[in-house]
Amino acid sequence: MPHFLDKANDILVNVYSFWPVQFERGEGVYLFDTDGKKYLDFGAGIAVNQLGYGHPVYVKSLQDQIAKLHMGLCYVADPVRVAAAEDLLASAEGDFDQVFFCSTGTEAVESALKAARKWSLETKGSKAYEVVYARGSFHGRTMGALSVNGQNAYRNGFEPLLEGMHEAEFNHLESFVAKVNDNTSAIIVEPIQGEGGIVPATPDFLQGLRKLCDERDIALIFDEVQSGMGRTGSMYAYMQYSAKPDLIALAKGLGAGFPVAALMGARRFTEHLTPGSHGSTYGGNPLACTAVRSVLKELRKPGFLQDVLNNGAYLRDSLSKLGRETGAFDNVRGLGLMVAADYTGGDIRDLIKALLKNGLVALSCGRNALRLVPPLVIGRSHIDEAMEIIVASSE
Ligand SMILES: Cc1ncc(COP(=O)(O)O)c(C=O)c1O
Repeated sequence: MPHFLDKANDILVNVYSFWPVQFERGEGVYLFDTDGKKYLDFGAGIAVNQLGYGHPVYVKSLQDQIAKLHMGLCYVADPVRVAAAEDLLASAEGDFDQVFFCSTGTEAVESALKAARKWSLETKGSKAYEVVYARGSFHGRTMGALSVNGQNAYRNGFEPLLEGMHEAEFNHLESFVAKVNDNTSAIIVEPIQGEGGIVPATPDFLQGLRKLCDERDIALIFDEVQSGMGRTGSMYAYMQYSAKPDLIALAKGLGAGFPVAALMGARRFTEHLTPGSHGSTYGGNPLACTAVRSVLKELRKPGFLQDVLNNGAYLRDSLSKLGRETGAFDNVRGLGLMVAADYTGGDIRDLIKALLKNGLVALSCGRNALRLVPPLVIGRSHIDEAMEIIVASSE
């Protein structure tokens, strides 16, 4: 019988360099492969699975909803969609007025760019569609989001992309100021660059962007697809920066594994997305919105986000200690449970393979960094267990 990878590589479009493993089920923060081998999951489906596997509230609510109404019609604002929007707006403590539901991170980014462009064209003139984005950023794979990706590896082979998109230096306010003009519709940044290497913005930078956008009447978009939904220990990373965006793109943890994404924003921008001008067949489907509601219910429980902060600090301390002891890790960084360290012990791809072999699912990011983004429900014992596997795998 051919190895499953031979078949996978033959019949699936090979854009992922598939790993030599097949997961069959999950339980809590553990995955089990088809041979019954157990893995501690510090990848969480790339920072998606906030609640772990088989979370009772999440499972029950989705089971109930799928039996009742699994698909509505995007033209119909079913009760669960309205309730999910209310919950989401409440989770941002009144910072936004409206929600648009869609299905993937790149679609949420497209929605934000389109809202900003339409607002700008309708209020500032027919040339006001330019956008400034940061070097090192990752915003998704569709042509609009790709046009504001600050990493050539993702753009190569797909150009020409959208015109009027300008790259500036992350964490360098003056460089953004230099790229802004009267035709700028939006500035888009991740408060913490994720794929780019878990690089947190400085407070001065984000606050400076806020001021710049206010002064020049530009929409400020934060892409919190990876940093949102409690990942950094606050519901949204921007809350730790005292710098509020006009539009925020969300996905990943929003559905904790159910494909759902959202744009949240201030009405003066979102109201330019009018009937027929934008949409998404699955956007706000009853199952997606049920997933959103159950995720928010858990994240908003007293103490949940504080635990993320505490466990995040413990994870960073443990990784720093391990780095000093093994000499294999440097520059530990991140916020909450969005953590990375430069790997100095060799090629990160070899380490990821060794970790998998030894029962830890972990990810890479940036140039040669280890990225740890576990389910938000992990405890200290899981962090200790992960460190033991990392030590054993980096010897
Ligand atoms: C910050 C950020 N924006 C957008 C995306 C794209 O999300 P998706 O893969 O769901 O389209 C990602 C995915 O990693 C991301 O990290």
